Amino acid sequence: MPHLFEPIAFRGVSLRNRIGVSPMCQYSCENGLATDWHLVHLGSRAVGGAALVIVEATAVEAIGRISPHDMGIWTDAHTEPLARVARFVKAHGAVPGIQLAHAGRKASRGRPWEGGHHVPNETGGWPIAGASAIPFDEGWRTPEPLDDHGLARIREAFVAAIRRARDAGFEWLEIHAAHGYLLHSFYSPLSNHRSDQYGGSFENRTRLLLEVAKLARSEWPDDKPISVRISSTDWEPGGWTLDDSVALAGLLKASGIDLIDCSSAGNTPKPNVVPGASYQVPFAEAIRNRADIPTAAVGMITEAMQADDIIRNGRADLVLLARELLRDPYWPLRAFKTLHAKGDSPVPPQYLRAW
Ligand SMILES: Cc1cc2nc3c(=O)[nH]c(=O)nc-3n(C[C@H](O)[C@H](O)[C@H](O)COP(=O)(O)O)c2cc1C
Repeated sequence: MPHLFEPIAFRGVSLRNRIGVSPMCQYSCENGLATDWHLVHLGSRAVGGAALVIVEATAVEAIGRISPHDMGIWTDAHTEPLARVARFVKAHGAVPGIQLAHAGRKASRGRPWEGGHHVPNETGGWPIAGASAIPFDEGWRTPEPLDDHGLARIREAFVAAIRRARDAGFEWLEIHAAHGYLLHSFYSPLSNHRSDQYGGSFENRTRLLLEVAKLARSEWPDDKPISVRISSTDWEPGGWTLDDSVALAGLLKASGIDLIDCSSAGNTPKPNVVPGASYQVPFAEAIRNRADIPTAAVGMITEAMQADDIIRNGRADLVLLARELLRDPYWPLRAFKTLHAKGDSPVPPQYLRAW
C-alpha cells in the first residue's frame, strides 16, 4: 500500500515522498527577477523535507503578472536567478519545479497585503488581455480579447518560458490553468463568450490550454514530467464542472501531461463554496479514477494523518501543501516522525542531532 513517505517516479524524475510545496506568489520581485528571498523561502522547504518544491506562478510575459512584484521568466536575464534556486533545491534532495502562468484578466493588481487594488497605468500598471471583454468583478479592468495575433504571442511566450525553465535546471514543469487566470478564463464558459474557434463548445474553450500543453510536451525534455493545475469546478451555476474536468484531464493525458493538480474556483468573485479540511480532495480522487491519470490533491491539508490517508486510500498520488508550509517549513520532517514512517529520513545531516 503506498503511503506519504513512499517514493514515486514520474518519467525519469524520482520524488522522495508524496509531499509538494504548492506554488505560492511571494510578490517580492523587481522586474520579475528571483531574489535572495526566494532562495531562502524555497530552499528552506527543500531542507524541510518536501519532495517537490514548485516556484510560484511565474509570468511568461510581463503583462501576464498578477502584480508588478510577481516572478517572471520573459527574458533570458530571468534564468540565472531562478537557476540558483533550482540548484539549491536539488542539492538538498527535492525536485525543483516551476509553475508557468499568465494572469489574463486578473493582472495589474497590487500586493494582497497592500489591499490588492487595481494598479493604474500611471503607477506601474498595464492594459490587460483576456478571452472576452468581461472584467473579473466590479472595479476591475476590462481585458482586451486576444485576437489570432495575440494568441500566437501567448503560445510563443509559453514556448520561450519553457525553454528558459529547462535551461534553469527545473525538473518539473507546471502549467497554471486555474484560479481564473488566462487559461482558465478561456475554458470556463463564464468568462469566455467568444464566437471564434476558441469559444463556444467545450472543444473550442479548451483549445488554447491543449495547444499550450502540446507545445510544452514537445519543448520540455521527455524524461521530465509536466503537470497542469486546473480549477476542477467554478462552483457556479452555468460554470465549469467536475465532469468537464474529467473530460479535459483525458485530453491532457493524451497530450503527454503526467499529472493533474486539482484546485478549484478563482474565476468569479464569490463562488458557492465553504472550504474545509480536504475539501478539494474529491476532485483529485474523481479525476484520478475516472480519467486514469495521476493527480495531486491541494487545499486545507494540514495534518500528517490526513495527508497519509489521502495517499493510502488512492485518492491522489501527491499532496501539495501551501499555507501549512508557510507556518512550518519542517512539516514533512515532523510528519515523518508523527507517522513513524519507514525508509530514508528526509532530515538533513546538519540537523540530525535535533531528531
Ligand atoms: C500566499 C499564497 C500565494 C499563492 N500563490 C499561488 C500561485 O502562485 N499559484 C497557484 O496555483 N496557487 C497559488 N496559491 C494557492 C495555493 O497554491 C493553494 O492552492 C491554496 O492556498 C490552498 O492550499 P492550502 O489550503 O494548503 O493553503 C497561493 C496561496 C497562497 C496562500
